Amino acid sequence: MTDISPSPRLALITGASAGIGTSIARLYASKGFNLALVARREDRITKLAAELSAQFGMSAYAFACDLSVPDAPGEIMDMVENACGPVDILVNNAGYGIAKRYHETDWTDQAAFLQLMLTTPCEMTHRVLPGMRARGFGRIVNIASIAGLAPPASGHTLYAAVKAGLVRFSQSLNAENDGSGVHVTAVCPGMTYSEFHDVNGQRPKVSKLPGWMWQSAEAVALESWTASEANKAMHVTGRYNRLMWSAARLLPENMAFGIMKKRSAALGKDGR
Ligand SMILES: NC(=O)c1ccc[n+]([C@@H]2O[C@H](COP(=O)([O-])OP(=O)(O)OC[C@H]3O[C@@H](n4cnc5c(N)ncnc54)[C@H](OP(=O)(O)O)[C@@H]3O)[C@@H](O)[C@H]2O)c1
Repeated sequence: MTDISPSPRLALITGASAGIGTSIARLYASKGFNLALVARREDRITKLAAELSAQFGMSAYAFACDLSVPDAPGEIMDMVENACGPVDILVNNAGYGIAKRYHETDWTDQAAFLQLMLTTPCEMTHRVLPGMRARGFGRIVNIASIAGLAPPASGHTLYAAVKAGLVRFSQSLNAENDGSGVHVTAVCPGMTYSEFHDVNGQRPKVSKLPGWMWQSAEAVALESWTASEANKAMHVTGRYNRLMWSAARLLPENMAFGIMKKRSAALGKDGR
């Protein structure tokens, strides 16, 4: 843990070392929030904490942690609250994809994936929610994906499932906390420029997609902030993604799934 300086409201952002998480950290810093930045790459989050506190004059703390380890949510929350005080804003953003068919993967990899992508956000939320409600203020932002809303395809098998789970979880919590001062929002980006497709090895394929399908991480961060402040239970980022989502909802589910299934077969074994 690296303490960069002392406190107003504190935002804990997971996956702050790259992409959307870095952009969300920069946005909250620019609005004067103190930050607890979490990711495995300590050098990156320490550097980012120093850079943001120097630029914006708030406090930033870096906590290196692998959030796919089952004990991590409890440990990280204790460390953050001891060092920085209560968490007012929780952004569950850390994530990646496994671009293979389910039977080609090891269960240990899938178990770690489920832990990071679903169990950890749920536990982190469970830990911060009572304090937020007691103080009458809180923001929980779960970075899901348009994949959680679209008909699923072959490959990345559990990805759509965990993102759909995050969406439904956020919507239930949003309803449960209505009027409490705690906003809960699932944010559903589509293709976003970040390290995501380098990590999952899909960069050569996705780089063929046209530029208008993509958003910058900064644009996703800004829409996440606006949706959270408006207390939207779910927000699809980007005009193109909203259009695709609306179009998909017009089709009967079986027909939409059939189209995705054919597309998967045409694209090959990982469906992407
Ligand atoms: N990019 C897209 O097209 C896209 C679209 C829809 C949704 N999303 C979602 O957006 C979120 C952010 O992804 P991104 O696009 O910004 O990808 P990214 O640039 O690869 O960033 C992923 C972040 O997650 C962190 N992370 C990964 N595994 C971790 C672990 N075990 N423990 C702690 N931190 C971990 C990484 O940090 P370390 O490696 O330093 O740990 C990194 O900071 C993800 O939930 C992703 O599913 C992305």
